[in-house]
Amino acid sequence: MGFSKAKGILGDEFSRDADFLSSVVSKLKLVKNSKVLDVGTGRGHMAIVLALHGYQVITGEPEGANWADWKTPAKKVSVEDMITFTPFNAEKMPFEDASFNAIFLYATFHHIGNKKLALSEFLRVMKPKGTLIIIELTDDGVEVVRKRWRGHPDAVDPRAYTKDLAFEVKVIESKYLNAFIYSKIIDK
Ligand SMILES: C[S@@+](CC[C@H](N)C(=O)[O-])C[C@H]1O[C@@H](n2cnc3c(N)ncnc32)[C@H](O)[C@@H]1O
Repeated sequence: MGFSKAKGILGDEFSRDADFLSSVVSKLKLVKNSKVLDVGTGRGHMAIVLALHGYQVITGEPEGANWADWKTPAKKVSVEDMITFTPFNAEKMPFEDASFNAIFLYATFHHIGNKKLALSEFLRVMKPKGTLIIIELTDDGVEVVRKRWRGHPDAVDPRAYTKDLAFEVKVIESKYLNAFIYSKIIDK
């Protein structure tokens, strides 16, 4: 299904951030058979965008933390077979070393308790030339979300946690969301 048609079916809640998420996925130019992980399923928006781009996605969040229904929207746009849900905590993930070409977090990083531990897990399960994409709200983005959810936590800049880690980072900025694109620093 085309991206515009999916936005029409899923409505404003999905469409609000979907163009930015989709533009980030396009810029990465991942190969089609990439192993892709989405951390923090929530409403499944990130997983659905990835699936609409043709990627098979593994997505998950801690057992019992499924506060939203990702399957219904995925079915509405016919991508439920592209998405596999498996419960996991980012701080200790049930995946082999060097499993994934790309790991996505959209509006998840600020919810993770031990961010350093999660980052060391991302480094462990990323393939050597893999990419970690942390998409976080900007301060303007938090302000918008707080109109619906007053207690929403502050925005987090992941670079505050990655200074000592073997990562290179580039940032794609927008008014409401920033995407921090990390690659592993590989010894030459
Ligand atoms: C705002 S939602 C993210 C939205 C979602 N990425 C989407 O595309 O709709 C935040 C998510 O982070 C998840 N989360 C919180 N702590 C986590 C952890 N330690 N490991 C994995 N997921 C976590 C929550 O269960 C929740 O689904």
